[in-house]
Amino acid sequence: MADSKHHGVLGAVYAAKRPEEVAALYNSWSQTYDADMSAAGYRHPTICLALLARHLPRGAAPLLDAGAGTGLIGEWLNIAGYPEVEALDISEGMLAQAARKGVYSALHCLALGGHLPFADGAYAGIISAGVFTSGHVGVEGLDELIRICRPGGVIVLTVKNTLWEAGFAARITELEAQGLVTRIEETRPYISMPGEADTVPSRGLALRVI
Ligand SMILES: C[S@@+](CC[C@H](N)C(=O)[O-])C[C@H]1O[C@@H](n2cnc3c(N)ncnc32)[C@H](O)[C@@H]1O
Repeated sequence: MADSKHHGVLGAVYAAKRPEEVAALYNSWSQTYDADMSAAGYRHPTICLALLARHLPRGAAPLLDAGAGTGLIGEWLNIAGYPEVEALDISEGMLAQAARKGVYSALHCLALGGHLPFADGAYAGIISAGVFTSGHVGVEGLDELIRICRPGGVIVLTVKNTLWEAGFAARITELEAQGLVTRIEETRPYISMPGEADTVPSRGLALRVI
């Protein structure tokens, strides 16, 4: 089980109101995050990796790990055959841990939710695990990810039910109707951390950019 400190940090992050607060909380959590998440049975990276590998060919590059944290997924993407992955996160402390894994070709300390300094279609695929959730990034972060993913590319993300029901689902339907993305896969809702007290489910989504 995750320890009480973990519960405290996660609760505070979910309740955070400002990006600087989120960054500070993750900075203070960064050194124990991997062990805490492992103890909590954290599932988002595994689900996201499975979805990406099903829909994006081995070797596709470059990829962006958006809200990469300590780089759990970067490590696995690398092993699974994606040679060039960049990390983006709002927390320098989390990115410092990601850097230590030695698997990212670039590290970007940036906030999702507004404009991103990348060209249209810059990435062949984008993966964002555990980021579209309470107190983190809302649906407003999605449009930029679509812009920077190339046509034919894949965006894999997880969305917590709270956000899904508060406009995310409607926005995906709208984006499909506008011909901007196709929903290629949507998982059933699942609990992301079975070892945690939080029981609000999330779902994994795979979108193909048109
Ligand atoms: C639950 S962690 C997930 C990290 C990693 N994707 C994983 O699955 O282990 C959420 C991450 O999102 C980052 N984050 C939160 N809000 C953000 C924002 N507005 N822009 C970029 N990163 C953000 C946090 O710093 C943290 O590293």
